[in-house]
Amino acid sequence: MQEKVIEFKNVSKRFPGVLANSHITMDIRQGEIFAIVGENGAGKSTLMKTMYGLHAPTEGEVYIRGEKVEKFAPSYAIQKGIGMVHQHFMLVPSFTIAENIVLGNERRKKRIFIDKQEAKKVVNDLCDTYGLMVDPTLKIEDVSVGIQQRVEILKTLYRGADILILDEPTAVLTPQETEDLFKVVRKLVDELGKTVIIITHKLNEVMALSDRVGVMRQGQLIGVTETSKTDEKQLAEMMVGREVLFDKLDKKETHGEVLIEAKGLVARDKRGFHALKGIDFAIKAGEILGVAGIEGNGQTELIEVLSGMRDYEEGTITINGQSVKGMSPAQIRKLGVAHIPEDRLVTGLSKESSIEDNLLMGLQHKEPYATKGIHLNRKITGRYANDLIKGFDVRTAGKDVKVGSLSGGNMQKVVIAREFSFDTPILLISQPTRGVDIGAIEFIHEQIIKKRNEGCAIILVSAELDEIFRLSDRMITLYEGQITGEFMSGEITKQDIGFYMTGNRSEGGEA
Ligand SMILES: Nc1ncnc2c1ncn2[C@@H]1O[C@H](COP(=O)(O)OP(=O)(O)OP(=O)(O)O)[C@@H](O)[C@H]1O
Ligand SMILES: [Mg+2]
Repeated sequence: MQEKVIEFKNVSKRFPGVLANSHITMDIRQGEIFAIVGENGAGKSTLMKTMYGLHAPTEGEVYIRGEKVEKFAPSYAIQKGIGMVHQHFMLVPSFTIAENIVLGNERRKKRIFIDKQEAKKVVNDLCDTYGLMVDPTLKIEDVSVGIQQRVEILKTLYRGADILILDEPTAVLTPQETEDLFKVVRKLVDELGKTVIIITHKLNEVMALSDRVGVMRQGQLIGVTETSKTDEKQLAEMMVGREVLFDKLDKKETHGEVLIEAKGLVARDKRGFHALKGIDFAIKAGEILGVAGIEGNGQTELIEVLSGMRDYEEGTITINGQSVKGMSPAQIRKLGVAHIPEDRLVTGLSKESSIEDNLLMGLQHKEPYATKGIHLNRKITGRYANDLIKGFDVRTAGKDVKVGSLSGGNMQKVVIAREFSFDTPILLISQPTRGVDIGAIEFIHEQIIKKRNEGCAIILVSAELDEIFRLSDRMITLYEGQITGEFMSGEITKQDIGFYMTGNRSEGGEA
């Protein structure tokens, strides 16, 4: 049998109010791709963070290549050849790629200063060795998440990692970027003798990539199997403890007035290039308009413009009968708009605040939550928070827990719970199920359809075509800031829509 590079023996980790890992005994073997799956809050990231030394277990032991870990610290783990790419990246946006990779490295201690030329060379050499291409001179803030992830991986390789942990690496990637990543992972394992542990919610990825898979539920390891001896259905059942059915959603016939209308919309992206080049659409009450497109074709800017986070240069936007030109996000919200942003950590949540306070954002001056707009009525707000936590199945020890300590998927549920309970007629929804487990995806989809059936006008941007197809009444494809096609639900297949997502136009388009 292959050498065991990592062994967990009876490992438990307790946080105040939660047993995040409970008596876990498991091993990782040299040269394998090991997948970890499980519901949001099951303890996947916690277990991997323990291995990386970010926290010490409450109980139990960890062995690296047969040697017992006595000191839980990333510096120790790195020294032992472990590298971790986190669920939320940890790069310095204003620094170049080269600076980020070389930054904070142990090797630097020997020499205080590393010059730019040398950093560039180091990175170019790394790229060649591992087949992961990046331009070392670009700043992190100017590159896509796919590239940022490469940088994170290169950083761990630069530090000499031979056991790599990837925590939900594909959650933020396009299908093409995912394919590229998998090629890199295979190369690392097959040609360069590395071991890779990957956490993911996408069971098709588990099947396609891994040698073995471990399933976690509520802090426990439910089982480890060889991937070839299981299938998606069985894994899903092990994860949630029941069969997961994606039943047909119950869509009611609705006829409403137009609540969102855009005409000739032109806007620039954060780097000053035109991201939207003349967009027209209208969305009625009781309708979901799905926006399909390969990431980076204007979807982000479209939602930013609609929510008031970005100004537009030309054209008009009318929401609930009013032009929104010059309005702030807060003013647009007052027109009856709720917004689930694509990046929950930057714009959706305050990590340092409690779940309760995050759920109250936007309501904190309103009756009955506050008296005279100032004094929060904690009895009422507490009940409100508890109801939402329960209703949206946020896995937590309680409403006073800081949002920053929740698991990734549970943070997303907090944003959705808050925005959906504002009871607005208009919803702007971006990537609603990113990082969310399959049980919760089913739940969130049902909630979106419920809103639609109640008469909300909804725009839905998602990188998941399955999601767009399942929920939308009508779909548009965006390519380089223009609409290349428009289809009613049922009019086109997932295979065929790719044609329009890559720039081809449907009849009637102005080619
Ligand atoms: N630093 C922390 N302080 C307090 N509680 C924490 C901390 N980190 C994690 N937890 C709790 O431990 C549990 C497991 O969290 P973990 O992040 O490991 O879940 P996960 O399986 O990675 O979920 P997801 O799929 O949503 O990322 C959760 O209940 C979470 O709230
Ligand atoms: Mg996690």
